[in-house]
Amino acid sequence: MSESDRRLRRAAAQRLESLSAAGVRQISKRRVARPDVVEAAMEIGATRATDNSGGTVVAKSLAVLQQEVAACTRCELLSQQRTQTVFGVGNPQARLCFLGEAPGADEDRQGEPFVGRAGQLLTKIIEACTLKREDVYILNVLKCRPPGNRNPLPDEVHNCRGYLNRQLELIKPEFICCLGSVAAQTLLETDTTIGRLRGKFHDYRGIPVMCTYHPAYLLRNPSAKRDVWDDMKRLMRELGIELE
Ligand code: URA
Repeated sequence: MSESDRRLRRAAAQRLESLSAAGVRQISKRRVARPDVVEAAMEIGATRATDNSGGTVVAKSLAVLQQEVAACTRCELLSQQRTQTVFGVGNPQARLCFLGEAPGADEDRQGEPFVGRAGQLLTKIIEACTLKREDVYILNVLKCRPPGNRNPLPDEVHNCRGYLNRQLELIKPEFICCLGSVAAQTLLETDTTIGRLRGKFHDYRGIPVMCTYHPAYLLRNPSAKRDVWDDMKRLMRELGIELE
């Protein structure tokens, strides 16, 4: 078997594992037997086409903003209790941003969003979509961990909102995926439930926004993975990636 065959085989095996973790139980054999399609989809899904310097400029501006966030004391309690701020991670030129709620204990410790159990499930979902974590950008509404992982307070969301807006202005994603009610309701400035928001596209400053359940909710309610997978298929179709 050639090295390229081995690579394709590994990609197909990883894909199956991600699909399974994301809750997919049935797929057509024909598609799995075509890992070259998976590779092609990976190409489509990654960085959007811009000039060579575009990514560097955005990355530098994000780094400056990250420093500002790291020094933020707008929320007295959160800034006193945090280990560090959790700014965001991924491709500064990503076509797709995933927006979560706030860092948990693992994220506070490691300084990176979605690295705990829910984060590992998110990674599997991203991979089931034929993408890699490094292809997309992952960020949260709050940059500091709320004590005991309670929901963010309205004042905290208000204090952090400007940072989120500026991150999205810099990255200029083509699509945003909101994970859970806090992300969806904050971004879209609505109090509609996530159950009603999910499954269709909404608009944030001209950017189509898909809302879906939070991976932490999926850990407690695995049967909701089916809905999330439907939402991902709809989102990926708009990105040019057909999933089974
Ligand atoms: N939940 C979130 O919403 N964000 C994280 O970074 C981790 C868990």
